Amino acid sequence: MKNIVILISGSGSNMAAIVRAAEQGRWGERLHARVAAVVSNRADAQGLAFAKDHGIPTAVLDHKAFASREDFDAALMAQIDRFSPDLVVLAGFMRILTPAFVAHYTGRLLNIHPSLLPAFAGLNTHQRAIDAGCRFAGATVHQVTAELDHGQILAQAVVPVLPGDTAQALAARVLTQEHLIYPRAVAGFFSRQFG
Ligand code: GRF
Repeated sequence: MKNIVILISGSGSNMAAIVRAAEQGRWGERLHARVAAVVSNRADAQGLAFAKDHGIPTAVLDHKAFASREDFDAALMAQIDRFSPDLVVLAGFMRILTPAFVAHYTGRLLNIHPSLLPAFAGLNTHQRAIDAGCRFAGATVHQVTAELDHGQILAQAVVPVLPGDTAQALAARVLTQEHLIYPRAVAGFFSRQFG
């Protein structure tokens, strides 16, 4: 069985979408893949309850308990590696990762970013897209490399930017698409790699 470890910091709605897709799409049988664990850097991440309700082991590693980013990432790697991951999925994990972390999971580390990369890497993507006068926005699933929000693009979805949109309204529209493309990209990762 191939193991997926999902990292979250907050609501975990992308994680939930992946867990539901794995259940409904019978990934265990079809892809020999399962969500083996959900790891959060925040004990109050709402997504942890969802994972527990679905019988998925969870772990919390508070970044504030570590003196440096390097120390935290080393402990995070040890925690993740307990679950022998074939794929590590960043799903709203709000930490900048060290080069050592990224190198350790090269080729098996995915992220979703709420813009049509390579446009609007970094934070505050929705307001930046509105301010630039974009007619379209969207989300991108990509391999994670040392450079922030770069790396091979695996999936994208496009939504319109509507007149009068707020960043919040646009974010909500984009998020509905994230919930479709992220599970699909994760399943695609396994069908390509191990099919
Ligand atoms: C998503 O918009 C994701 O693209 C961004 O953070 C948000 C996380 O939402 N990186 P959730 O925790 O999956 O609900």
